[in-house]
Amino acid sequence: MSALGSFDHRRAVVYQIYPRSFCDANGDGVGDLRGITSKLDHLQALGVDVVWLSPVYASPQDDNGYDISDYRAIAPEFGTMADFDEMLAQMHARGIRLVMDLVVNHSSDEHRWFTEARKSRDNPFHDYYLWREPRIGDDGERQPPTNWEAAFNGSVWEWNEATGEYYLHMFSRKQPDLNWENPRLRAEVYDVMRFWLDKGVDGFRMDVINMISKPWNPDGSLPDAPVVRDGFLQPGFAMSCNGPRLTEFLREMRREVLDHYDTITVGEAPLATVAEGVALTHPDTGALDMLFQFEHMDLDSIGGHVGGKWALKPLDLRDLKRTMQRWQDALDGRGWNSLYLSNHDQPRPVSRFGDDGPAHRVASAKLLGTWLHSHQGTPYIYQGEELGMRNVAFPSIDHYQDIESRNHWRTAVQERGEDPATVLRSLHAKSRDNARTPIPWDPAQPNAGFSTGTPWLALHPDSPEVNAARAVADPDSVFHHYRRLIRLRREHPVLALGHSRQWLAEHPALSAMERVWEGERWLVVCNFSGQAQPVPLPTALTGAPAELLLGNRPERRGRVDERQHGAAAIDLATLVCAPWEALIVRMG
Ligand code: GLC
Ligand code: CA
Repeated sequence: MSALGSFDHRRAVVYQIYPRSFCDANGDGVGDLRGITSKLDHLQALGVDVVWLSPVYASPQDDNGYDISDYRAIAPEFGTMADFDEMLAQMHARGIRLVMDLVVNHSSDEHRWFTEARKSRDNPFHDYYLWREPRIGDDGERQPPTNWEAAFNGSVWEWNEATGEYYLHMFSRKQPDLNWENPRLRAEVYDVMRFWLDKGVDGFRMDVINMISKPWNPDGSLPDAPVVRDGFLQPGFAMSCNGPRLTEFLREMRREVLDHYDTITVGEAPLATVAEGVALTHPDTGALDMLFQFEHMDLDSIGGHVGGKWALKPLDLRDLKRTMQRWQDALDGRGWNSLYLSNHDQPRPVSRFGDDGPAHRVASAKLLGTWLHSHQGTPYIYQGEELGMRNVAFPSIDHYQDIESRNHWRTAVQERGEDPATVLRSLHAKSRDNARTPIPWDPAQPNAGFSTGTPWLALHPDSPEVNAARAVADPDSVFHHYRRLIRLRREHPVLALGHSRQWLAEHPALSAMERVWEGERWLVVCNFSGQAQPVPLPTALTGAPAELLLGNRPERRGRVDERQHGAAAIDLATLVCAPWEALIVRMG
């Protein structure tokens, strides 16, 4: 059992910290563990139950820590193991659990396993990784074994002279994929997990966990990816997801490790379908508590994960509602959803799904939180989301630090000759650095209180207005709306557990979701537009009396708002939503 006793992940709200960008305690420009410890009161005031901490392990930081060179050590720029222990103790003292990021589809190429593995084919660590012989092209030259393009561009295959083989890396060349077919490697991973659980951490967020079993031909031969564009390299992501042994490996992990502790587990699963969602999170047979699926993240680009995220297309709200509801229906009673609109890999939701202009930024940020937290599942808040932070539009590629963004620029502009202005626009919309600008704490301090040194990535130009100090002082801020939302969810199981049903599914601007649980019947109405919208609800819903619990417009206050006076009755028959208005209503 964890230090805090047993606990129901379904009722929790999780807050994600990206340590590099959260708070810098020692002035070197990089956020760190002592910085996190110094800001735990912010999280406690917000009311979250769990922190998911992105990687803080030893790493050459090629992918900001998602390339780990020692799974049992803290990277010096983030602090020491003593700083870690102190942070964990301070979290637990506030009733907050800690979920660590577990990145074991790949390691760093600077991990000792790999520096050994690459030395010779008979090195004991060689089989910890995935190796293939070259193929010989028509010109007699050596070629990579397949045409798969890595997530961060270039081939997934990197030549290793010492062994005369290529190794596989689905991400950067400094992130070689681990060979989960090897039981010794699996045992090493389980040991690492025990190390952190024995320290008292409360669970894991498992990076690209559905890539650990590769869907390759039974004889180990590798198919080429389908050719969807000019040139040799083709999108290769699907060639490495959801292999046949995934469930087996995760059940083994559960048996070997997780069953011996009280844990929270969430697996990141690109390209996962609802069937995989059920298989992996089923309350009786699933190996994980919940999954991050990506279907709703792929609706505003032409190819999603397969054709690339950079080719933008406008989002249609009907697609978003349909996709979310498909997951709601499939997992109700048969699995469990994690609910997210943002994380360290995604643009800021208010810019992507809301309206980040001055007129509607605050209302639409509150609406998005309300809408997301009103689904069945466990909601995740990514740092800065509770402040309504926006995307950043850096003026040139030189300002971007993210390896995915930089490699995309190099490939698109320098190699393929695409129009730089168009590529920069797609970075403005989709770059991971949108989510990684430092958290502005207090505008009265240098660098808005993030760091006394030079921040590793520029602060958002909004920082003088959009910052934690201001948000906490303003009762109408996005922060306080999230706080009320979290409290409402804690007090009323219907919000976390209730069955969900969509009304107005074909409405292009309105979402109306009904939640039902043990005699409670709630309705959550959101206007995803800058125009007032009459809400054409069926009379089956509008007949009974209704009470507004929480809204995002000052002129319409709900019962949960500490400053509301008088009745919070609301007439659903004549309801007209203001621009970006969101309402949580209890019926009957
Ligand atoms: C996951 C992480 C992302 C990282 C990638 C490779 O998608 O969230 O940040 O770059 O895996 O580890
Ligand atoms: Ca620091």
